[in-house]
Amino acid sequence: MRQKWTSKIGIILAVAGSAVGLGNFLRFPSQAAANGGGAFMIPYFISFFLLGIPLMWIEWAIGRYGGLFGHGTAPLIFNRLWQNRASKYFGAIGVFGPLAIFIYYIYIESWLLGYSFYSLKGTFLHLSSQTETVDFLHKYQGVTTKNLFLITYIFFILTFIINFTIIYKGIKGGIERLCKLALPLLFIFAVIIAIRVLTLGAPIKEHLDWSIANGFGFLWNPDFSALLNAKVWLAAAGQIFFTLSVGIGVIITYASYLSKGDDIVLSGLTASSLNAFAEVILGGSIIIPLAFAFFGGSGAQEIARSGSFNIGFVSMPLIFSKINYGMIFSFMWFFLLFLAGLTSSISLIEPAVAFLSDDFGISRKKAVSILGTLSFLICQFPIFFLARGVVDEIDFWAGSFFLVVFAFIECILFVWIFGIDKAWNEIHHGAELNIPRFYKFIIKYITPLFLIFILGFWFFQQAIPTFFLKGVAKENIPYVLATRAGLLILFVVIATLVRKAHGRRFKVKK
Ligand code: PFF
Repeated sequence: MRQKWTSKIGIILAVAGSAVGLGNFLRFPSQAAANGGGAFMIPYFISFFLLGIPLMWIEWAIGRYGGLFGHGTAPLIFNRLWQNRASKYFGAIGVFGPLAIFIYYIYIESWLLGYSFYSLKGTFLHLSSQTETVDFLHKYQGVTTKNLFLITYIFFILTFIINFTIIYKGIKGGIERLCKLALPLLFIFAVIIAIRVLTLGAPIKEHLDWSIANGFGFLWNPDFSALLNAKVWLAAAGQIFFTLSVGIGVIITYASYLSKGDDIVLSGLTASSLNAFAEVILGGSIIIPLAFAFFGGSGAQEIARSGSFNIGFVSMPLIFSKINYGMIFSFMWFFLLFLAGLTSSISLIEPAVAFLSDDFGISRKKAVSILGTLSFLICQFPIFFLARGVVDEIDFWAGSFFLVVFAFIECILFVWIFGIDKAWNEIHHGAELNIPRFYKFIIKYITPLFLIFILGFWFFQQAIPTFFLKGVAKENIPYVLATRAGLLILFVVIATLVRKAHGRRFKVKK
């Protein structure tokens, strides 16, 4: 008997937990600041309504449909939607992609636990410049010296054990229970920090124009000329994929634990709205206004452009060291990010667990043990070769490339091959809300066209240069190529298992 969610709020919070993550609090504000400020919200919301919401409903519906046959992952569900030899291999991305993201996501998540500990220890109170916080981060990562690395590694192991314990406990006792607790807590922490930010005024006496209000202006004043830049549209669509966790298979797996009559229209919409609230309202009110108030416009711009992680690990400890009760706010910030990361990382590992247990008849406990051992070994690679471009490389393939490809495939399979009328009925089965009819047109034509447009444009602009290693430092090339080879091997192993699983589940009776 497959497991089931025990409550509607449980699945909504689990999906929202997967969606709300580092993407909301770190990636979104830096993307918005770097891509036209307020004007970014136009392509952002267009992508939300034309890509995010439709893909969310499609994945919930595909997952629930597959669950009725006892399938929890894309390979054999795709095979049900389209009985063609190739479909299951397309579906293999839905197991491979999340696993690949998990390999580096969990390591970054463990830094947040480490930084929560250092916040309470008061370490950041002694750091007085950005150079010092950068130094500390490099030490923590073991890039410059290995002095702190043992502690880093202990926090990694701790994070790893926490993740696998939750997964081991299953859907009801593990994932659902954690999300019901962690999501409200992280929302409370984020609201407290946002209120603190809003009431900060202009904290640097010598620069009264560096105020929180001007920081909001800096983030939200629209630069409409950005809308003519296709890169901005691409960035907005990419953010929607990443933040909603769609296009990779995890929502399919979560939805496979629904029952036939469970609503998906309203639940999917609720989870997406919770994510948008956490992103636009909370995520948009913390780091950029704060960075502006402490470092001014050009400082904030520089921080926003220097990559999402810098913002979180470099400027925040410094800012918190300058405000009253900074230690507590710093702990809240890193711990809320840790919880956001945790509820996302467990969703990344669940597809592989479901694949082994549903399609090979292995017990959940055994599947978790096998995957725990395997992924622990693979994780060593990004840990020890972090500075060699390994994380960026995995993120490019699993976190960008396959995301768009998989989204396109699932959309075509469900809407065009399974058929829009059946798809529409499937989505509406048990629905507590009717989707306006014009959405049928959007899902049938606009979403796939939009995806083709993004795929084509993105292919020329980013995929080709990345494929040919443009911008990779010479000394990192062997590591990047080794990462590619490793990912290829992982994909081939999963595809071979998919073939076996198919043979097992669809035995031809002689
Ligand atoms: N949505 C998560 C975030 O915003 O941080 C990241 C993520 C989780 C992406 C799970 C993809 C995924 F399957």
